[in-house]
Amino acid sequence: MRIAVVGATGAVGKECLHLLQQGVVPVDDIVPVASGASVGRDLNSELGLDLPLAPVTTVEAVDFTKVDVAVFCAGADTSRAEAERAAAAGALVVDNSSAFRHRADVPLIVPEVNPHLLANRPATNLVANPNCSTIQLVRALHPLHAHAGLDEVVVATYQAASGGGQRGLAELADTSRRRLADPDASVDPPGRFGQPLAFNLVPEIGLSDDTGFSHEERKIVAESRRILGLPELRISATAVRVPVFDCHSETVRVRTRRPVSASGVEDALATVDGLRVYRRTESPSYPMPRQVALTDESRALVHVGRIRIDPDDDHALWLWIVADNLWVGAALNALNIVSVATKTGWLA
Ligand SMILES: NC(=O)c1ccc[n+]([C@@H]2O[C@H](COP(=O)([O-])OP(=O)(O)OC[C@H]3O[C@@H](n4cnc5c(N)ncnc54)[C@H](OP(=O)(O)O)[C@@H]3O)[C@@H](O)[C@H]2O)c1
Repeated sequence: MRIAVVGATGAVGKECLHLLQQGVVPVDDIVPVASGASVGRDLNSELGLDLPLAPVTTVEAVDFTKVDVAVFCAGADTSRAEAERAAAAGALVVDNSSAFRHRADVPLIVPEVNPHLLANRPATNLVANPNCSTIQLVRALHPLHAHAGLDEVVVATYQAASGGGQRGLAELADTSRRRLADPDASVDPPGRFGQPLAFNLVPEIGLSDDTGFSHEERKIVAESRRILGLPELRISATAVRVPVFDCHSETVRVRTRRPVSASGVEDALATVDGLRVYRRTESPSYPMPRQVALTDESRALVHVGRIRIDPDDDHALWLWIVADNLWVGAALNALNIVSVATKTGWLA
């Protein structure tokens, strides 16, 4: 299989390459694509990889009739400009951006939740990868729905700087260093996150509309309903950027249709592939971003802890969810989509 990674020098694209090195999807040939500024870069030597990889090229230079799969992770503008050309040429496009997520003719896939939508190749040749916060949320909600029925979901996110790509990571590191070196310095100017992030919390990710909800919050709501196949689900979100480098965390309150117990919820989630449950008897009984980011094994999982039943309502529970936004929330989900497509046979 020949795969193009569009945005290969970015935060998500590099993780795609690392996962391809691990054989998540077997490939014969990789075409790394980035902006004109990166043309000619040798990503094998830069990233310490040993992949069948040509030097970086531009998207305009790629002949997509000779590409089986194109994973786009170069932002919505590049996807809007180039993804449909790639798809029309015959490549299966898995797009990490928000460009196509709202389109009815483009399946929005989390393989652990709705892989059946890939039984047939989409006529558009396009598949959308959901928003990173949405993916970890629905992977916990889907088994909970089977266990007790979802009635209402209220989520607050704690989103890492890596969600803002390479620039976001560099900005958090630089501004943190500056602030530590000179605590009396004036607050940094707004950058990648709209507000200074170092030693701060930014409770608005993307622009807010006239209801007051931010773009990120609206994406979590709309995408969760669609992926879970629950268009009427009552769900609302508060999305917050936090000065953490890796992994998104979420506090979730779920109201269920049937009564629940903490041990019943722990047992129901513990049987699900790809979920790691932290039981109340464990210490600590919760995952944390820095620990989750430490190993490949934990980066590949959705971690769920602090499972508590509301003492005044046996139809309501609280969860704490942590997952690596670059893996679970982006690169790994995209490559798992490719893997599902391969297994259906229509990508052979
Ligand atoms: N970061 C996350 O946690 C996350 C999670 C889910 C989805 N996503 C989505 O994934 C996409 C990439 O995010 P990221 O965080 O990886 O961003 P990033 O670190 O800023 O990387 C952007 C990549 O796009 C490339 N690029 C820019 N303009 C291009 C063009 N005209 N043609 C081809 N390549 C171009 C860049 O190349 P140069 O290096 O040459 O500039 C770089 O490789 C975005 O749509 C984002 O919303 C991100």
